[in-house]
Amino acid sequence: MWLSCSSVGRKFVMALTGACLVLFVTFHCVMNAVAICWPAAYNSICEFLGANWYALIASVGLAFLFILHIIYALILTVQNRKARGNVRYSIEKRPKNVEWSSKNMLVLGIVVLAFLVVHLIQFWAKMQLQEIRGVEGAIPPAAGTLFIQEAFSLVWTPIVYIIGFVALWFHMNHGFWSMFQSCGWDNEVWIGRLKKIGCWWVSIVIALFVAQAIVFTVKAHDKDYLKDPVLREQYKDMIPAMIEKDFGPDAAQLGQQIRMSSYDQVSQGIRQMEAGMRQQAEQMAAPEAQEYLKNNPAAAEQFKEVQERAKGLTRVVAFFDYLEAGDNQPEMNVIEVNQPN
Ligand code: HEM
Repeated sequence: MWLSCSSVGRKFVMALTGACLVLFVTFHCVMNAVAICWPAAYNSICEFLGANWYALIASVGLAFLFILHIIYALILTVQNRKARGNVRYSIEKRPKNVEWSSKNMLVLGIVVLAFLVVHLIQFWAKMQLQEIRGVEGAIPPAAGTLFIQEAFSLVWTPIVYIIGFVALWFHMNHGFWSMFQSCGWDNEVWIGRLKKIGCWWVSIVIALFVAQAIVFTVKAHDKDYLKDPVLREQYKDMIPAMIEKDFGPDAAQLGQQIRMSSYDQVSQGIRQMEAGMRQQAEQMAAPEAQEYLKNNPAAAEQFKEVQERAKGLTRVVAFFDYLEAGDNQPEMNVIEVNQPN
């Protein structure tokens, strides 16, 4: 097949997948801007996309593009090295127009890939993958801002991200115009123009990513995403989905009550409910109660239900504890002491 067998075909695949990835990165940068300007809207988008079929198709398509891009990059590199033998460049003196990034596309790509692995572990694995696996995490998958809070409160996150962004700048800056060249656009004047357009495009996107990483780091350290009252109302509305499995048919009614109440009311109410159910579960776990349950299958069934519900509520209480961990911490007051003259 031309696309896989000929060198031009392979370069064309690199260019096409590269173009799609540039568009994805640009779109992703815009999404991050939404997280900064309208964090509640960002969470609504995360909830809307979730693990729905359309989001899954997009993710599989994206993974396919990344994999194809990487495989073809490796094939082209091996092919080029074979053609050149031990000499990396056929001309002894470095040609002026061969930029540093063009000679290091593979290394830059590996740095970007390493960043991507860390990034996907921090976000995608805890959001979409969690939903696909049906595993209950400590944070609801729709709370995108809380995953930003978690990631950027770690000291090393902004450092790793900025290293990734710098590598991505060099990688995309070279890739942008060379993809046009690979498609046969070899006009001297136009390549010059495309280099300028590419440099501006990539620089704006990467500068925005750097600025976003700084804003997220500052906000995470101020615990903004935990304390914001509008976001807290939104996190509260994610609780019905957290307890859906444990409460069975009663989940709908409890969910409605939660949605109609304020964050503080729900936080208090759930804590009380959990304490009551936990106590009930403890009483029923006593040896005398166990004896009774053995002879009463209906009561034993009810006990199992209470246990399940108590477990679900304990998870919700842990979530509230996490959100409220930074509340009411006394500020360090500087007490002025009047020194006698
Ligand atoms: C400040 C920088 C960034 C932040 C805060 C950020 C945030 C996020 C978040 C929250 C998700 C999860 C979305 C979901 O699964 O619903 C995600 C996914 C992803 N991000 Fe980033 N991102 C950043 C930079 C980047 C960069 C530079 C790249 C590319 C090199 C990238 C590539 C990806 C990919 C491939 C996914 C998986 C998308 C999917 O499966 O649909 N991210 N990111």
